Amino acid sequence: MQENNRVALFSDDPDWHARRLTDALARRGVEAVWLSFTDCSFDNSSPTSGLVLPGFETELPSGALTRLIDPGTLEQITTRLDILHALDALGIVVSNSARAIERTVDKSMASFLLANAGLATPLTWTCESPQKARAILQHQTRNGGKLVLKPLFGAQGKGLRLLDASSPLPDPEEVDGVYYLQQFIDTTTGGEGWHDWRVFVIGGKAVAAMIRRGKGWITNVLQGGVCEAAPLESGLVDLAVAAARALGTDYAGVDILRDHEGRFQILEVNSVPAWKGLQGVIEVDLAQAIVDDFLSRIDATSPVRIAG
Ligand SMILES: Nc1ncnc2c1ncn2[C@@H]1O[C@H](COP(=O)(O)OP(=O)(O)O)[C@@H](O)[C@H]1O
Ligand SMILES: [Mg+2]
Repeated sequence: MQENNRVALFSDDPDWHARRLTDALARRGVEAVWLSFTDCSFDNSSPTSGLVLPGFETELPSGALTRLIDPGTLEQITTRLDILHALDALGIVVSNSARAIERTVDKSMASFLLANAGLATPLTWTCESPQKARAILQHQTRNGGKLVLKPLFGAQGKGLRLLDASSPLPDPEEVDGVYYLQQFIDTTTGGEGWHDWRVFVIGGKAVAAMIRRGKGWITNVLQGGVCEAAPLESGLVDLAVAAARALGTDYAGVDILRDHEGRFQILEVNSVPAWKGLQGVIEVDLAQAIVDDFLSRIDATSPVRIAG
């Protein structure tokens, strides 16, 4: 690190992850200044950068780690991402970047980019029209298949619905005006019970993986999924690394399942992942690995950053 050893750690909630990152930074002689997005603002009358970050009045941070962005209105989320965009425009390393977060949090854009990168991902449709969504549902379920309906900006397995040929399509208000439909893959067919993989990719390398075993088809830890360390087998790892690269994440938790033919398929790439469950079943210190990758990015840029 060069001219100052203070970095911004964005987290509206000073949770276990933020503390782990803070400790990992301290181990490398770097101070984490915790910032809540709600305390940050823009002020283009200011003589410095136009960005107001508490604790960085005279000098901008050497880098910024994005740990958590709280839910908010469209305007609030846009403003929070703008703060990350502005830091990037000022030449500051932001990990994960606003661009990576935008591409991954929006499940439709992520599916588009994954498919366009030629990566295996389930068939997925996004549309506003309920007529179109109904036609897709009817067609795709005509032979007994099922579709998963997901909130476009959903997380932690919340709000997912399994639809079959007899399911009524929810009204547009129930899906915030956008239908995100995905081919359902039954992971119990091999006799293993409900399961999928979470692979953690940092700096282009898969550093850890786990199988999540669910009580039902939704395997998220928050929905009762049980974590089990998994080997970093090549098919799984290659796909996870390619997915993280396609979406531009510095670090990511990649969700992958295996289809009936035994092929791995990417469900999503989490650019603001939690890793407490995974950390509980593996040896490698994920916070330290994230921090070390982040600091290496700062060192690689080495610009002189002086506010003003
Ligand atoms: N197409 C699918 N087929 C089978 N299971 C799925 C599918 N999509 C999601 N799931 C299950 O639901 C969980 C949550 O879905 P995911 O797309 O990762 O959204 P979230 O952002 O809520 O975690 C997955 O980890 C998996 O267990
Ligand atoms: Mg997920």
